[in-house]
Formats: sequence, C-alpha cells, structure tokens
Amino acid sequence: MSEGLLDKVQKRRTFAIISHPDAGKTTITEQMLLFGGVIRNAGTVKARKTGHYATSDWMEIEKQRGISVTSSVMQFEYQGKRINILDTPGHEDFSEDTYRTLMAVDSAVMVIDSAKGIEPQTKKLFKVVKQRGIPIFTFMNKLDRDGRPPLDLIAELEDLLGIEGVAMNWPIGSGQTLQGLYDIANNQVELYHQAGAKQFIPLNEAGTLPASEPMSQNPQFQDTLGEIELIKEAGNTFDLTKIMAGDQTPVFFGSALTNFGVETFLKGFVKLAPAPASHVVNQDERLEADDAEFSGFVFKIQANMNPQHRDRIAFVRIGSGEFKKGLDVTLARTDKPIRLNNATEFMSSERVQVSDAVAGDIVGLYDTGNFQIGDSIYAGKRKITYPALPEFTPELFVRVTAKNVMKQKSFHKGMNQLVQEGAIQLYRNYQTDDYILGAVGQLQFEVFKFRMKNEYNSEIEMTNIGHRVARWIDPSQLDPVMSSSRNLLVKDRYDQPLFLFENQFAERFFQDKYPDVKLTEKL
Ligand code: G4P
Repeated sequence: MSEGLLDKVQKRRTFAIISHPDAGKTTITEQMLLFGGVIRNAGTVKARKTGHYATSDWMEIEKQRGISVTSSVMQFEYQGKRINILDTPGHEDFSEDTYRTLMAVDSAVMVIDSAKGIEPQTKKLFKVVKQRGIPIFTFMNKLDRDGRPPLDLIAELEDLLGIEGVAMNWPIGSGQTLQGLYDIANNQVELYHQAGAKQFIPLNEAGTLPASEPMSQNPQFQDTLGEIELIKEAGNTFDLTKIMAGDQTPVFFGSALTNFGVETFLKGFVKLAPAPASHVVNQDERLEADDAEFSGFVFKIQANMNPQHRDRIAFVRIGSGEFKKGLDVTLARTDKPIRLNNATEFMSSERVQVSDAVAGDIVGLYDTGNFQIGDSIYAGKRKITYPALPEFTPELFVRVTAKNVMKQKSFHKGMNQLVQEGAIQLYRNYQTDDYILGAVGQLQFEVFKFRMKNEYNSEIEMTNIGHRVARWIDPSQLDPVMSSSRNLLVKDRYDQPLFLFENQFAERFFQDKYPDVKLTEKL
C-alpha cells in the first residue's frame, strides 16, 4: 500500500446526477463546472446538449437529436478534491447505459424541480441507485419560481421514494418573494441576490437574527422560523450512517439558473460525499481502493465517438490502484494480456491523455473489439474479477430483419457483436426464430440501427412491437399453446423461454388461466 496513492484516492468524489428531463441537471452541472474553473462561460454544457458545441465530435445521431447519447465524464478540482461527474442522458429516451453508469459512481445527486416534485424518470433512476446503497444528495431546484411547499417536497421523498429527507437549508420565501436560504448546516442566512460580504449573515445562538438585521422583520423570514421550529421538532434528524447507506438524503434548496444555493450545495456535497470505497471482487474478497495493483471494470462501450477514426472507447471505472500509460493488464474473462497504451481521461470539453488516474476515476480505453460491458481488467498476478453488472429487464421491443436479404452475413455479424457488447438485448421468437430486440429506452434502437449501418454496412428494418411486460417461465411448465399475439413466447440469448405480455392485464389474464405457472421478472 502506498501512502501517496491513499491520499489521491481519498480526494476523489465520483458521482452522477439523476433527474427527470428539464429539472435542471444541465444547468446545475454547468454551474459546478464554473466553480471548478473548467469552463469560463455559462452556456457551454447547454450548447453541447442542443448540438451547437463547437469542438464536439459526438455521434451524428447525438447532434441530430440534440441530446447526450453518451454518458460522458466531466472532471474538475474543487476545494482540494478531484470531482468526477458522470453524465447520464436526461432525455426520456434513456437507455441501459444510464443504469450502468450508476454502477460506476460512489454517490448520486438527485435534482428535483420544486414546482413539480418527484417525476417518473427520477423515480426509475432512484430505484437503481437505492439498490446500490450509496449516498444520495438532493437539490430542490427552481426556487426562483413558485413551487410546492418545502415541507410537502420533503414528505414526498419519504412517501414516493421511501427515503428520509433531512433539510440542510430551508427557503425563505419562494418565486417572487424569494429572500434567501436559512442555512441549518452552517448556521447562517444566505441572502438571495447579494454578492460579496453581505451575502451571509450569521445566526445567533437561538437560531434567529438580531433585530438590527432588516431580514429579521421580514414576514417570509418569520414564516421560515416557524417551519424550522417544526422540522426541528418533528422532522428527521441528521444521521450520517443512514446517509452513507442511502436511507436518508440531505436536502438542499436553490436555483441553478440564478446560481443561488449551488455553491452551498457543492460545498456540502464535497464535505459529506464518500471517497471511493472498497469493492467485493472474486465473489467474496474485499479489495481496497488504495490497493497497489490496478484493477477496474468496463461499464460502457461507446462506438464512433470520432467518426473520422471509427474508434470504440471502453469506459473503465478504476476500482483499485493507479493507471499508468503503457500499463500491462489482463482481461479477466479471457486471461488475455493487453497493454494499455492509448487511454483518455475526460475533461468537459475535450479528450486528453491520462496523466494520473487512480481508483474512483474513469479512463477511456481505445478498443479494437477486446472489451465487453462488465469486463474486469487487472494488473499484477492476482486475478481480479468484479461482480457482473446487473441486466435490466427491457420494456420496449421491436422485430428486426435485414433490409437486403443478400446481406445476411453482415447482418448476423453486426447483430452478434453489438449484442455481445451489451448495446441491446436479443430474443428469438420461440416458433419462428425471428430476431426481436429489447431495450429500456427507444434511443437504444436508434443507436443500434445507426451502428448497424455505419459499422457493419447492414441496413435493418424494425417493426415496433411496443411496450411489453417480460416474464420468464420455468421451461418444465411451458406449453407452446400458451403463446398468442398478446403473450408472445420468445427465448433469450441463453435459450430460456419468456413471455412478452401486451400489458399487465394480459399477464393477469394469463395467470388466471394458468394459476400453477410461475412467472418471474428476471431470469
Ligand atoms: P435538464 O438538463 O435537467 O433537462 O434541464 P436544464 O438544465 O436544461 O433545464 C431545463 C429548463 O429549466 C431550462 O429552460 C433551464 O433554463 C430551466 N432552469 C434550470 N434551472 C432553473 C432554475 O433554477 N430556475 C428556473 N426558473 N429555471 C431553471 P429552457 O427554457 O428549457 O431552456 P433555455 O431556454 O434556458 O435554454
């Protein structure tokens, strides 16, 4: 164990932001990058989102759609810490990439529009984060607009997500009447639209302001004092153990657009968020993040980031040790040795060669087809295998055929490789053997189609099957007569049978008809 390495690892804070589209994820990311000195102008991240990003070389499809297909990585220094933000597509056409990216972070930030509360996409992403048991920090955004009462927003966390909310600060007014924040964690009042020394007023021991402060007479402030009283008595108490386990979320209020409360949030986050922790590897061994040997796992593969070079990049989350250019590693799945000569680290605006990347950081490896999603790589003699990444049950399905029947070879090749890579799930019709693709977001199909054409020169035809409920069935209970258009019988890539039900109603109907048949949500 090297001391220098431990220090470096302790400085890392690697997280993703989860939110429903339009809650303000891009805006808050941009503010953080401004604080980190990575960008100088607001609008840089936004421009990428809308496809007007000058130095961008993202996939054509991303430009056309104006959304972030890639879960890119943004890195900056703040208060002596190295922050890695892993971007997750905010668009509702999100994909399995989004879920897998959440496997590569040590904490998550949940941005909520305070006028809308918890929206469907947030709920879905939250579920994945919650299962990992990592800390979740909440930012209630858009305080400059009239929103829902803060007490309701906190209650909703518990009611809809089942996580306790603990207020770190509290709004004083909202929308037109927004005056500032009552900062419980730092014992001060933060004034809205007041720069410089006057921005913060310390609270006295009683938690109020001296009568000489004009704010103390403000009706909004008086209301806030009443609410603070209430949450101190009846609200959740700050509990670091619960926070670390993801059972309680620290809640910060603010307005990303007007850059209010964002720095307070960032400071609070950096103080509380965990450094990279140890991982369970090889089934039951614990691997410390500052273990001297390098190891990591591939959580995403991105093809054609630069159309001129037709490269593929495997995104590796470093789990232990330090990455050095030219490092010799072994691919655990095949025991094949690989020299890592060509790697990139991701800054917000450009890709640069990796200088010092340690546990917690993400490196992008140029790949010529060695890697699959979920692969482990390690240096040294001791074999290190990270747990398999979870597979997410698809919700959308299409039937797929080659447009040109003469080009079956490239069609099958592309199909096999992309499925192996983890880009999409493949099923076969139980009776006809037709290809059926499954995804968690519509976007995955479009990316798939694009890549089939561009990388394998195979044009494909997709027929929509729509939303389906996938349920596996024990092969011994299977009778082909059970299949119909409403409960389509298919097999997965391990040849296991499952039904794609038209909807939950069809599933219930099926269960009523065959009460003894056991259906499972996952294989
Ligand atoms: P997303 O990445 O989560 O999808 O959200 P994004 O940051 O793009 O924000 C969505 C919209 O909400 C944007 O407005 C943005 O300006 C606005 N917004 C973000 N934070 C705040 C806030 O604190 N207060 C208010 N009032 N608005 C906020 P837009 O009209 O869709 O885009 P634009 O016209 O600003 O480009």
